[in-house]
Amino acid sequence: MVTATRPEAKVKLGPTKLLINNQWVESVSGKRFETINPATGEVICDVAEADAADVDRAVEAARNAFNHSDWRKMSARKRGELLYKLADLIEENKEELARLETLDNGKPLTESLNMDLPFVIETYRYYAGWADKIQGKTIPISGSYFCYTRHEPVGVVGQIIPWNFPLLMQAWKLAPALAAGNTVVMKTAEQTPLSAFRVGELIVEAGFPPGVVNLLSGYGPTAGAAIARHPNIDKVAFTGSTEVGHLIMEAAAKSNLKRVTLELGGKSPNIVFADANFDAAIEGSHQALFFNQGQCCNAGSRLFVEEKCYDEFVERSVERAKQRKVGDPFASDTKQGPQVDREQFDKVMGYIESGMRQGAKMLCGGHRFGDRGYFIEPTVFADVRDDMDIAREEIFGPVMSIIKFKDIDELVERANDTIYGLAAGVWTQDISKAHAIAHSLRAGTVWVNCYHAFDIAAPFGGFKQSGMGRELGEYGLQQYTEVKTVTVKL
Ligand code: NAI
Ligand code: MG
Repeated sequence: MVTATRPEAKVKLGPTKLLINNQWVESVSGKRFETINPATGEVICDVAEADAADVDRAVEAARNAFNHSDWRKMSARKRGELLYKLADLIEENKEELARLETLDNGKPLTESLNMDLPFVIETYRYYAGWADKIQGKTIPISGSYFCYTRHEPVGVVGQIIPWNFPLLMQAWKLAPALAAGNTVVMKTAEQTPLSAFRVGELIVEAGFPPGVVNLLSGYGPTAGAAIARHPNIDKVAFTGSTEVGHLIMEAAAKSNLKRVTLELGGKSPNIVFADANFDAAIEGSHQALFFNQGQCCNAGSRLFVEEKCYDEFVERSVERAKQRKVGDPFASDTKQGPQVDREQFDKVMGYIESGMRQGAKMLCGGHRFGDRGYFIEPTVFADVRDDMDIAREEIFGPVMSIIKFKDIDELVERANDTIYGLAAGVWTQDISKAHAIAHSLRAGTVWVNCYHAFDIAAPFGGFKQSGMGRELGEYGLQQYTEVKTVTVKL
C-alpha cells in the first residue's frame, strides 16, 4: 500500500497491479502507465498496463471460475450475501474510497463522499437483494408437457467503464452481473484506475472465489479492444463515447456475436416553459448541466427556454453560473473541480471557441481557471442555434447552451432532432403538457420538474445512438441473464 505525500491529498492509494484470479499481478509485458491528478497535472503513481495477453489470462480465470468453481455451485442466496458483505466493506472504507476517487478524477470530495459513495453502496445492496429472486416461469404449452424457463447467467462478461463516475460505473456493471451469477473481466478507464482496484481488495476480502472478478487497468485500443473481440467472452457491457460504441459492436459482430449492451453519449434537451416554477427551473437547469464538471452522459446540454421567459431566464442562469465555486476538489466549499485530463480540457476549450466563432453569445466564463490543472470557468452561451456545433455535439464540460423556442410542436421536433436519445428534462406546472411532452420525446429517461433524479431501481439507458439495453433496476438485471426453456414430456 502506497501513500501519496502531497499535502492536499493524503490519500492511501491501494493496489496498482492487475487483479486476476484473486492475485495481484504485473502485466505480461511488464509495462506500467501513469495516472494524473487533474487538479495539479502531476503524476499520482503508475499502474500496470494490461494488453491482449492480460485479457487472455483474465478470461481464462473467469472462464474457469464460471465452468468449474464453487461460484456456479453456490446458492443464489449465498451470492447475495457476498454482495451484501462487499457493500458493508465499501461502507466501512467510504471516506478512504471517496478521497481516492477525488484524487484520481478531480470531482469535489463532498460529491464523492455524499453522492457517489452512497449510490455505490446502494447499488451493491440492491442487486444483492435480487440474487435469490431471479425467477423463470412455468408455461402452459400444448400437449402433455411440463415447460419452464430458467434465467441463467450469460457466462463470462467483459465490462469496459469510463472515468466520469469510476466507482459508480464499476458498481452499476459488477453488481447485476454478479447477482445473476456471471464472472467478469472489467477494464477501468485509463484516467481513473485507482478506486476500482481498492474495491478489488474488498472483493477478495468479502470472499468472492478466485476468477469471479478480474480487474484490468489499461488503454482502450489495446486492452479494451481485446475484450470486445475476445472469442471466449459471452457478453460485453460498455459505457463511454458513441464512437467507441460503434467499434465495440463491430468487434462483437466480427468475433463471436457476444451480447452487447451500450451506454453512450447524449445531447439531452432540457425544456423550460414560461409556466414553470422559475426558481426550481433555474437551479435544476444549472445542476442539469454543471454537475460533475459537466461530465455526465445525461447532462441537460441543450437548454430550450420559452421565448416569453427567455431574457429573464438567461440573466438569472448567468448570475447562478457566476456563483459556482471552482477550485481545489478537496476544499469543502468547492462545487466544481478540474476536467478529468488534458484531452477533455482541450476538447471543451475547443467547443468554447467554436461557440464564439459560430456566433453564439458568451455571457460568462470561457477561460481556463487558475494556472495549473484542468479547470474551466463555468461558461454560459445564449442565442445558440440548433445548427451550431455546441448544440449538436457532446461537449462533456461546464458549458451551457441556451436556445430559444416559441412554438410547442416545433419544439418537440427540434428536441428530437439529434442522433442521441439518452435523457430529457421538462419544466412546467401544466401536468397534461408535462406528460404529453414526456411521451413525445425520443429519450430513455424524461425528468419532469427535476433532473438527474437517479435511483437504483429505475432503469436508465438510451434510445438511438445513446445506447442499447438498460442499466439499473430489474431491466438492468435482465441484460445479464440468458433465458433457457426446459420442456419435459409427461
Ligand atoms: P472512450 O469511449 O474512448 O472511453 C471510455 C472507455 O472505453 C475507456 O475505458 C476506454 O479505455 C475504452 N475504450 C476506448 N477505446 C476503446 C476501443 N477501441 N475498444 C474498447 N474500449 C475502448 O471515451 P473518452 O475518450 O474517455 O472520452 C471521449 C468522449 O466520450 C467524452 O468527451 C464524452 O463526450 C464521451 N464519454 C461519455 C461517457 C458516458 O458516460 N456515456 C463517459 C466518458 C466519455
Ligand atoms: Mg477515447
